[in-house]
Amino acid sequence: MSENQTTDAQGLSGEIPAEGFPPPPEFAAQANVGADVYERAAADRVGFWEEAARRLDWTQEWDQALDWSNPPFAKWFVGGKLNVAVNCVDRHVEAGHGDQVAYHWVGEPGDTRTITYAQLKDQVCQAANALVELGVQTGDRVAIYLPMIPEAVVSMLACARIGAVHMVVFGGFSPDALASRITDADAHVVITADGGYRRGAPSGLKPNVDEALGKTDGVRNVVVVKRTGQDVDWTEGRDIWWDDLVGRQSTEHEAESFDAEHPLYIMYTSGTTAKPKGVLHTSGGYLTQVSYTHWASFDIKPDTDVFWTAADVGWVTGHSYIVYGPLSNRTTSVMYEGTPDTPHQGRWWEIIAEYGVTVLYTAPTTIRTFMKWGEDVPAKFDLSSLRLLGSVGEPINPEAWLWYHKNIGGGRCPVVDTWWQTETGAHMVNPLPGVTTLKPGAAQSPFPGIGVKVVDEEGNPIEPGATGYLVLTEPWPSMLRTIWGDDERYKDTYWSRYGQGVYFAGDGAKLDEDGDIWLLGRVDDVMNVSGHRISTTEVESALVSHPAVAEAAVVGATDPTTGQGIVAFVILRGNAEDSGEELVKGLRQHVRKEIGPIASPRQIMVVQELPKTRSGKIMRRLLRDVAENRELGDDTTLTDSAVMDQNSAKLPTSQD
Ligand code: PRX
Repeated sequence: MSENQTTDAQGLSGEIPAEGFPPPPEFAAQANVGADVYERAAADRVGFWEEAARRLDWTQEWDQALDWSNPPFAKWFVGGKLNVAVNCVDRHVEAGHGDQVAYHWVGEPGDTRTITYAQLKDQVCQAANALVELGVQTGDRVAIYLPMIPEAVVSMLACARIGAVHMVVFGGFSPDALASRITDADAHVVITADGGYRRGAPSGLKPNVDEALGKTDGVRNVVVVKRTGQDVDWTEGRDIWWDDLVGRQSTEHEAESFDAEHPLYIMYTSGTTAKPKGVLHTSGGYLTQVSYTHWASFDIKPDTDVFWTAADVGWVTGHSYIVYGPLSNRTTSVMYEGTPDTPHQGRWWEIIAEYGVTVLYTAPTTIRTFMKWGEDVPAKFDLSSLRLLGSVGEPINPEAWLWYHKNIGGGRCPVVDTWWQTETGAHMVNPLPGVTTLKPGAAQSPFPGIGVKVVDEEGNPIEPGATGYLVLTEPWPSMLRTIWGDDERYKDTYWSRYGQGVYFAGDGAKLDEDGDIWLLGRVDDVMNVSGHRISTTEVESALVSHPAVAEAAVVGATDPTTGQGIVAFVILRGNAEDSGEELVKGLRQHVRKEIGPIASPRQIMVVQELPKTRSGKIMRRLLRDVAENRELGDDTTLTDSAVMDQNSAKLPTSQD
């Protein structure tokens, strides 16, 4: 069981009222959903999701809501047809809302763009025509490697509109990571930009694409958005400027309808092996649950809310709650390109005040960073427009919950902690803001229509007060359908541990005396660093690909800000000449190059040996103890095995 988070509210009893935080009566009175939703969903789970699906426009009604005859391969809304992009854009324009703002986009340097639904429709149609001109066909994969600019959304929707499958790669990933994803997905077109702005400076993306394309075959075209104006290398015949290609297209494009199970996108995520998994999401079920959860969890009022998911579109949170959820609900959103402290630590609060943001969705790691910067920073801004706060990515510790509630939410906004995953596509465990009495630190209740249990090693449900593993006991509409190209891995990874039809989420959980769910972090070899999933094996294999490294072990150690920090232990090859600071720097650089900056270890310790069981398994728990118990500097290099020796008393001799 991972012990990486403080989920106990101990020491905070003075700040947490005994009765918890019941929904403010004015909030409950106007909420989109009331307590009856749980009963309705329990009475007819599949019927409940059918009702949610009817919130969308279908060109053909489904004949079967759920086909679970071949688990774990689910089909939802079988026979139904829809176009996801039309549901997100055209239908709102047709209903007379073309002038409503879809995105208030804010660039890091301070430039802004306001995009209405009518403008978005034109841009999506132009981009769809452009993809068709490049020969992209229904079912083809298109790689998107963009900063947080509106073209990212437009590109995703253009793919959806023509039935192409988008595969967005977070702009912080390295050329190698991009190349392996392009190869695995077999994408022939890449959409990128010259660069984007981060921390006050332009940072290049096109050079990474150029490098990646030296390592993978099959990409015919690279479409390049001009964002920073920096110089880029150009491959004639392959590279084409977005403005040249998209700008000359017609704003008319007739959308075809696709099967509910037509693939919508692939998103790669870390698993317990070095090779990232291509999580596949399809159309009808995904949009149904993303749209409904966005509306219900965040109590979205399309006419008045200004919604902001402060995440990158390159992660699932961005896909579901910057793009598909908000647009399907005709929401006005804020989209911000940069970092929270550029040019000053109040940037987010300034944006909230400027646009009158009503609902903010972010990650605990960011909240803890704001806590470090101090409450006087947000206090300088008018945050009175906010009415609801969301959290995602890792367990929110009660301290951060209370700080967020008080300093950002002014004590009046419900805080909705949402547990879900790339694989689940949408919210799965979270309170409902107009219904649930909130407990700081707990995700609390399964979303209506979602089957969740906490079980022990054998799969038996645990008693209140105990700790176990979170499992999902029923198929859900936005579930992943498989791992791209690897049905076996899909079955093995998620569905083999507890028998047929039970999905193993990889998270530990506790049930409190009221039966509420508290998430405890990953129980497998996956780390959670600033809300990003990184596999220990992936970092290990990056390290051993360095010529100086013979062996490596990586653990996630508790970190007060990022949740977990990456700590690596390496054994050098006999002929390695250097074992000092320079080498450690070089190794860190090597991991950045292989995977990306997010995977760069916080600490790298050079050791003589690694603690192993008799069967040769590295004892990560012991390494985690070492990483967490000792105050070691960032660049600590241990040329002798002092750390291991000092901890050798704890080394069990044989245990698998
Ligand atoms: O460990 C859980 C943690 O993040 C994992 C999923 O990561 P990813 O697929 O990258 O998706 C992140 C955004 C949905 C989960 O297995 N996690 C996510 N949200 C929470 C969480 N842990 C506790 N509480 C949450 N609210």
